[in-house]
Amino acid sequence: MKFFIDTANLKEIEETAGYGLLDGVTTNPSLMAKEGISEQDGHIRAICALTNGPVSAEVISTEKEAMIKEGRHLAALAQNVTIKLPLTLDGLFATKTLAAEGIKVNLTLVFSALQALLAAKAGAAFVSPFVGRLDDIGHDGLEIISEIINIYSNYGFETKIIVASIRSTQHILKSALLGADVATIPFKILRRLATHPLTDSGVATFLADHTKATQK
Ligand code: E4P
Repeated sequence: MKFFIDTANLKEIEETAGYGLLDGVTTNPSLMAKEGISEQDGHIRAICALTNGPVSAEVISTEKEAMIKEGRHLAALAQNVTIKLPLTLDGLFATKTLAAEGIKVNLTLVFSALQALLAAKAGAAFVSPFVGRLDDIGHDGLEIISEIINIYSNYGFETKIIVASIRSTQHILKSALLGADVATIPFKILRRLATHPLTDSGVATFLADHTKATQK
C-alpha cells in the first residue's frame, strides 16, 4: 500500500520522507488555505521538490474549459504534478481531455462506487473516495472502498484507489486489508500508526534493566 500525505505543510512532508514513508502528496484548496498559501504555483513546485511521487494539485475552476486550462498550467509546474478535479460532469470531460494529453488526473470528492466507475472510464489515473466524510453523515465510508475494488477488478481498470478523508488508524488498517492502492493520510494520524503503549513501556523496561545491570 502506498502512503500519500494529505497536507500542504512542507515540514510535515519532509518529516514523512525522513521516515521512509512518503510515496506522494495530496493537497486541496482548504489545506493550502490552512498554510496561508494564496499563490499555489510556487508552493506546488516546493512540494514537488521534496518527492518524486505524485503531488495532487487541485483546480479552482468548475467549468470544463477552465478546468482544462488550469490543469495544463498546473501540470507544467513539475513532472510529478497530478491534476485534482472534482467528480462532476465537467470534471469528467476535463479528465478525458487531460488524460489524452498524457496528464495524470486524480478525481476527487467521490462518494459512491458508481462515481468511481465513471472516473475509471474517463481515464483518471487516481480516484479519491472520501471515507471520513461519508462516516460523518452516518454511512460506512469503507463500504465503497470494497465496492470500488470489486468493480475495478471485474473490468481490469487501472485507475488507482486513493482512500481519502481518513480520520483514524482503523481506516488505514481496513483499507489495507481490502487491498486499496493508496491511503492519503493526515500527518497526525501517520504518527499515530507508529505508536503503541506496549512499545513505549517495553523500551522503558529494557532501559531500566540495562541501567540496573550496568550499575552492579
Ligand atoms: C484528499 O485528497 C482530500 O482532499 C482529503 O483527504 C479530504 O479530507 P477531509 O474530509 O478531512 O477534508
